[in-house]
Amino acid sequence: MSVKGCIFDLDGVIVDTAKYHYLAWKRLAAELGFEFTIKDNERLKGVSRMKSLEILLEVGGLNFDDKTKVKLAEKKNNWYVEYISKMDKSEILPGVENFIKSLKEKGIKTALGSASKNAMIILNNLKILDYFDAVIDGNKVKKAKPDPEVFLLAAKELNLEPKDCVVFEDAEAGIEAAKNAGMYAVGVGSLDILHKADRVIMGFDNAKLDIIKF
Ligand code: BG6
Ligand code: MG
Repeated sequence: MSVKGCIFDLDGVIVDTAKYHYLAWKRLAAELGFEFTIKDNERLKGVSRMKSLEILLEVGGLNFDDKTKVKLAEKKNNWYVEYISKMDKSEILPGVENFIKSLKEKGIKTALGSASKNAMIILNNLKILDYFDAVIDGNKVKKAKPDPEVFLLAAKELNLEPKDCVVFEDAEAGIEAAKNAGMYAVGVGSLDILHKADRVIMGFDNAKLDIIKF
């Protein structure tokens, strides 16, 4: 079967922004008086901002009214944006750029499929916006991963059938979203977390195009 399109998650696949999300959430937790560990942070990967806040508050055993929750999420986001505003090309994960370039040379279309509402800031800072034929981010979708909406919309914008697309994801919720969309899912990271993927790679360093042959 020949692949016609590749859809990339952003945070954790193209760039390690998970560390900045973690720093900002940890800072919020500290202000609220509890500790938020790196293990707790795993549950936030691929999950929307407000859902992430719900998980964080659950960890801290706290609850607030909706207005306060919006304020807390805004506070975390301001810190996060401060961190990502300093990013540049040097933070692109090894091998990703070359991999995307070789896809383009083969005429394979590419899209971004991210839950983040900050995706454009990162793509612009990294100067990689031009690599994508379509960009679907958290501002364009209503339903969060594991709902397939983000990837189905990406396939639609690429004018491709879902079955002709491959998704690259580092989050369990993202792999589920790809499978729910009827796409081939490549997990980027550890097999323990990504065992629902069709295949798992450690990263794109030295990655060859045959990882999308299935
Ligand atoms: C995902 C991240 O890509 O985007 C999540 O994996 C994050 O951790 C989500 O919560 C939403 O991001 P943002 O930038 O809109 O707060
Ligand atoms: Mg991710």
